[in-house]
Amino acid sequence: MKILVTGGAGFIGSNFIFHMREKHPAYELVCLDKLTYAGNLETLAPVMEEPNFRFIRADIADREAVYSIFAAEQPDVVVNFAAESHVDRSIENPAVFLETNVMGTQVLLDACRKYGIGRYHQVSTDEVYGDLPLDRPDLFFTEQTPLHTSSPYSASKAAADLLCSAYQRTYNMPITISRCSNNYGPYQFPEKLIPLMIANALADKPLPVYGEGLNVRDWLYVEDHCAAIDLILERGQVGQVYNIGGHNEMKNIDIVRRILAILGKPESLITYVTDRKGHDMRYAIDPSFIHRELGWLPETRFDEGIQKTVQWYLDNRAWWERIVDGEYQGYYERMYANR
Ligand code: NAD
Ligand code: TYD
Repeated sequence: MKILVTGGAGFIGSNFIFHMREKHPAYELVCLDKLTYAGNLETLAPVMEEPNFRFIRADIADREAVYSIFAAEQPDVVVNFAAESHVDRSIENPAVFLETNVMGTQVLLDACRKYGIGRYHQVSTDEVYGDLPLDRPDLFFTEQTPLHTSSPYSASKAAADLLCSAYQRTYNMPITISRCSNNYGPYQFPEKLIPLMIANALADKPLPVYGEGLNVRDWLYVEDHCAAIDLILERGQVGQVYNIGGHNEMKNIDIVRRILAILGKPESLITYVTDRKGHDMRYAIDPSFIHRELGWLPETRFDEGIQKTVQWYLDNRAWWERIVDGEYQGYYERMYANR
């Protein structure tokens, strides 16, 4: 079994590679990644020298490069994590989101069609469903919820999902899609809420909370997401969408307070800043389908997962401090100065 993992030098893709190494040591894994600002080869250092792992630097939107990789590698399965993934960046500059998330997905689908594939799995997001109101806690996203996007990021992910469904139906291709809620855990780039707040708190810098901090996200430990994808590859039904989430809804402000408490830092670091444009209010997944069909359940409770995550950032300062010192500096200035 040979799996091509695109975007494997990013947060979830790298965790997926480590998960698959552990659970299926005989599988061959090929990681294809462009190494954008969000991709970090250092993350993959523990597997780089292994005989059944290979890293290839390439852009999923580069048709020629992708075709030659498929011709040479002949993967049995493709799992597509490669994406521009940050909503705030998509508000700043949508074009690269369309290029990678839409055109890149199309190139991968075409390559699968041309070279043949056992399974193509698209890693999507609950953000394709738009948001839910705060005053309707009875509502959840199911696989039947209509797509209704808010940001250029989510619009590009929804477009990719629709292309996947179209290729599945039109060309009868073996495609599955998963839509997961917000992930947290090791190796998450410190522009996303949880690692950003950890990094700022450790530096005694202000913690920029958008609006009033009342927006709700449904947090899942990254390992649980990886286990769900593994299960979908093994037993998922072609043509099916699987929602992944663990019923762990929390307000942003409560997450920030929890991080401060774990680190023993004062709440006076919290700074309310101008809200994100078009800010989605609430995400909440109904995971009953994947539970019923595949028996998946999350294993890590939030209390445990957030402790482990904070500890990981404490133990791996070199990994994120290099990032915070690099290109990210300019982004942080643009995004947060005068906000
Ligand atoms: P990330 O930004 O940490 O990593 C993305 C990876 O893709 C990086 O290694 C980057 O170098 C690579 N990449 C970007 N453009 C590329 C291109 N054109 N060609 C090849 N590689 C490219 O993202 P993440 O948080 O790990 O998310 C992975 C996937 O999971 C994305 O598709 C995202 O939409 C989805 N997702 C993320 C979350 C979350 O909470 N982070 C939740 C649900 C779904
Ligand atoms: P984020 O991690 O960017 O994920 P997403 O927007 O894809 O859900 O943000 C999570 C929530 O945290 C979202 O409601 C925006 C909010 N947020 C802040 O309040 N401050 C910040 O500096 C960041 C990055 C996010």
